[in-house]
Order: sequence, then structure tokens, then C-alpha cells
Amino acid sequence: MSKLDGIAPEVVERYHLDRLPFHQAATAPDELMRLRGARVVVTGGGGADLGQAIVHRFAALGAHVAALDLDLESAQRVADEASKSWDAQVFAVKADVTDWNDVHSAVNQAAESMGGIDILVNNAGGGLKLHGPFVDIRPEDMRRIVDLNLFGVLFSTRAALDHMLPQDRGRIINIASEGGKISLDGLAVYNSCKSAAIGFTRNLARELKETRIGAVAVCPGVMVGPHALARFSGEGSEASIAVLGSSYDKLTAGRFSLPEEVANMVAFLASEAGEYVNGTAVSVGGGLSD
Ligand SMILES: NC(=O)c1ccc[n+]([C@@H]2O[C@H](COP(=O)([O-])OP(=O)(O)OC[C@H]3O[C@@H](n4cnc5c(N)ncnc54)[C@H](O)[C@@H]3O)[C@@H](O)[C@H]2O)c1
Repeated sequence: MSKLDGIAPEVVERYHLDRLPFHQAATAPDELMRLRGARVVVTGGGGADLGQAIVHRFAALGAHVAALDLDLESAQRVADEASKSWDAQVFAVKADVTDWNDVHSAVNQAAESMGGIDILVNNAGGGLKLHGPFVDIRPEDMRRIVDLNLFGVLFSTRAALDHMLPQDRGRIINIASEGGKISLDGLAVYNSCKSAAIGFTRNLARELKETRIGAVAVCPGVMVGPHALARFSGEGSEASIAVLGSSYDKLTAGRFSLPEEVANMVAFLASEAGEYVNGTAVSVGGGLSD
């Protein structure tokens, strides 16, 4: 007996009632969070902060992971460490997400190696150390920030959709920022790209609503990974610590986060347990944007 018995077929079809995941009620939540055999592409997967944390989280949950990065050596290091730590299939692919042809060929290569793509995490991004008042940012630097933080997301997503649309299944997770929801000093161009990534996620999800492909954004606040921690000591540390002050005072969590805490949310949203979180931007910022 089906839970849909007695409901008119046209109603079932019109509202996709047959897509309701009834089996979830009888499945343990930790089982719903497993990603065994999922085929995942993580851009910027060679990153020492969030990139590696996401790759490790997926590998730990049993996924196959392609770490795409401009820096092949770093991506290879992350892939080797994650494969070894979690007995997982993780490999590195060189890619520049700002280059349409390059990212398409890297995504196609990843899909060929894994037999398809189920999940794309658009993680590659960053302020390119171009923090400062808007009026002081040179036009060529504005373009570099937009290329990486907006075009990188659009191009990688478009490349992954070539694989997700034919299978009518997939998940696109865009790493935005709490800065995409609020104003912060010296980050006008970068934060605008993150606002755009949130808007893109919302609109993409709408366009994909008749498919089984979902899109969601994740907004980190201030993560203190190995790079940030290294800046808190030694020469120039006063400036790095001073920048933290204004963010810290806004935090309700009373501390910054580790990249792994953001990666936990990415893994949850990629799993069946997080599937219904769609078209929105989830803050993992310790209250920074609230
Ligand atoms: N660091 C933070 O506190 C923070 C806060 C909010 C949002 N974010 C966002 O989180 C994401 C990860 O940032 P992170 O600081 O943790 O860095 P990360 O450790 O994930 O490193 C980023 C990686 O992206 C790669 N990359 C750079 N340009 C590329 C390109 N053109 N093509 C392919 N790869 C490229 C770099 O080589 C690097 O390995 C970014 O989107 C960033 O904007 C970071």
C-alpha cells in the first residue's frame, strides 16, 4: 500500500507528490547523511582552509572527490592526504575556473574519471588580498575579483550542468559569504560578488525546479584555518588582528570558526538529509549576519 493511494494521479503528477521521500521516516539520520559513492567536484579543493576541509569531509562520508584547483600541486597534496586518511577515492585536476574552456575540460575530465557528477561545490574564491576602500581599487583588480568570485561560479556551474541535466539529478553548492548579506569595511567588490552568488543560487534553483537538481549557498563568516592562524603571530600580525575586531564584536557565537565547521554544513546540504534546503543561503557565521 502506498501513501499516495486514493490521490488522483493528476494531483500526484502536478505536485510531484511521488517525489516525497517517505523512506526517510524509517531511516536513521546518520544514514541519510552518508554520501557513499557520490561523485563530487570541489573547485578550489587544494585550498589550505575551506577547500581541503570540504574535500576531507566528503571523503570521510564515502564520496569520490575531484579536487579542482589552479594550483595542481596543492590539490594533489590534499587528494593524497584525503585518500589516505579516509580510504577514499580522491584525485586532483588542474583548472582555472575563470576560463570557460579550461573549467569545462576539467569538469569533463572529472566526470569521465568518476562516471558522472552528482555534486558540485563552488568553493574557489577569495578577496585576492585586495582589501581596501572601493575608490582605491583599480579597474583591473575589480575585474579579477569578479572573474574569480562570480564568473568562476557561473562557468563551473554551467560545466557541471552538462552532466547533471541528462541524469536529472544533482546538487550545486555555492560558497558565498556572510559578507554577501551584510556590509563590511573594505570588501565592496568582493562582497558584491558574494551577494551575486546568493542571487544566482536563488534564480538557478527556480530555473531547475522541474528537475531533481538543487542549488544552495553556504555563507561562512570568519574562518581561522591554518592561513589565518599563521597571520596572528610575527611580523604584520597587528594589522591582521585589527581586521578581526569589527567582525568579532558582531558574533553571537563568541568565537570564530574552523573551516571544518563550514564543511560540515556543506556535507549535510549535499546529503539526502539536507536535500530540501534549496535556493537559499545558509549562514555558518556564528551570528555575523544576524
Ligand atoms: N577565509 C574566510 O574566512 C572566508 C570567509 C567567507 C567566505 N569565504 C569563501 O570561502 C571559499 C574558500 O576560501 P578560503 O579562504 O577558505 O580558501 P581555500 O583554502 O578554499 O583556497 C581557495 C583555493 O582556490 C584556488 N583558486 C584560486 N583561484 C582559482 C581559480 N581561478 N581556479 C581554480 N582554483 C582557484 C586556490 O589555489 C586555493 O587552493 C571562497 O569562496 C571564499 O570567498 C572564505
